[in-house]
Amino acid sequence: MTETQIPTEQRLDIRLSVNGVPHTTTVTPRRLLSDCLRHDLGLTGTHVGCEHGVCGACTVRVDGKPMRACLMFAVSAQGHEITTVEGLAEPDGTMHPVQQAFRECHGLQCGFCTPGFLTVVSAFLEENPTPTEEEAREAVSGNLCRCTGYQNIVKSVLRAAEITEERKGCAHAEGDAR
Ligand code: FES
Ligand code: FES
Repeated sequence: MTETQIPTEQRLDIRLSVNGVPHTTTVTPRRLLSDCLRHDLGLTGTHVGCEHGVCGACTVRVDGKPMRACLMFAVSAQGHEITTVEGLAEPDGTMHPVQQAFRECHGLQCGFCTPGFLTVVSAFLEENPTPTEEEAREAVSGNLCRCTGYQNIVKSVLRAAEITEERKGCAHAEGDAR
């Protein structure tokens, strides 16, 4: 077969909305969302470990729900709102409660798994703002960490719930003072 006979893989122009920002890029149909985010859009906060849906490092939020970016094609992400770890903090740089909690409670060491935990836990706390320790443990059971032993991660989930409540209290107090 000569070089000109080798079939070239189709490439598609796609539009993605990531962290509220529209992006256009060109991908092959089998381009994984995780690779598209990292290599095409430069959003390297999403980490890739197993590429088999096992470790959870690549988790992003798709329309708010946690999703393994290594199990989704980039083309399938069109029409959905993708939130990566880069999109969790406030525009002014204020850390998301989950980020602050992981920092306070030493919920990370090398940090490789952390983006996946942060996206999972941020979604979980919106569903269950006052989890028990058992519920917190269950919530992170699909994510693997090779460093921390999970104790501090579970503490971080519970602390994140507290921080969220504290911030709500502050917002109410500021509103009352006006
Ligand atoms: S890299 Fe996606 S679950 Fe491990
Ligand atoms: S902090 Fe290193 S893998 Fe989790």
